[in-house]
Amino acid sequence: MPDAPRPMLDLARQALAHAHAPYSRFRVGACLRTANGGLYAGCNVENSAYPVGQCAEATAIGAMVAAGDRQIVEVLVATEGAELCAPCGRCRQQLAEFAHADVPVHLAGPEGVRRTVTLGDLLPLAFGPETLGRRRPDGGTPGA
Ligand code: THU
Repeated sequence: MPDAPRPMLDLARQALAHAHAPYSRFRVGACLRTANGGLYAGCNVENSAYPVGQCAEATAIGAMVAAGDRQIVEVLVATEGAELCAPCGRCRQQLAEFAHADVPVHLAGPEGVRRTVTLGDLLPLAFGPETLGRRRPDGGTPGA
């Protein structure tokens, strides 16, 4: 699997530095690359009403959609802790709305990319637009 391009790591780290995580103190940055060549970063945005908080991946997806972009081809998630951090279950589902199962997901720490998996590794047998008989914006293959 290819290494994450350096700009994705840099943008995710910049976003992480802006994370609003005063409750968990667990800052996360994410960067998405799209088929159009777009790069969209996001950070986690917590809330004093804890369940209202938003993950970094969701913030990045929102930025992508707001820009009129849709087809994710690469994902990078950056954290600062010692543990490997993969997207949470909700984020996996949100990513699957816009990314095929073969999309690489890079899991990065302060030292760089620690591990690369695919979205299909993280969310096998995903429920997706195809399940509802819909195509993704790129006309993606059902089940891909
Ligand atoms: N978090 C993310 O931003 N992405 C994930 O995939 C996992 C968790 C955030 C949510 C919360 O602000 C903090 O990490 C601790 O759970």
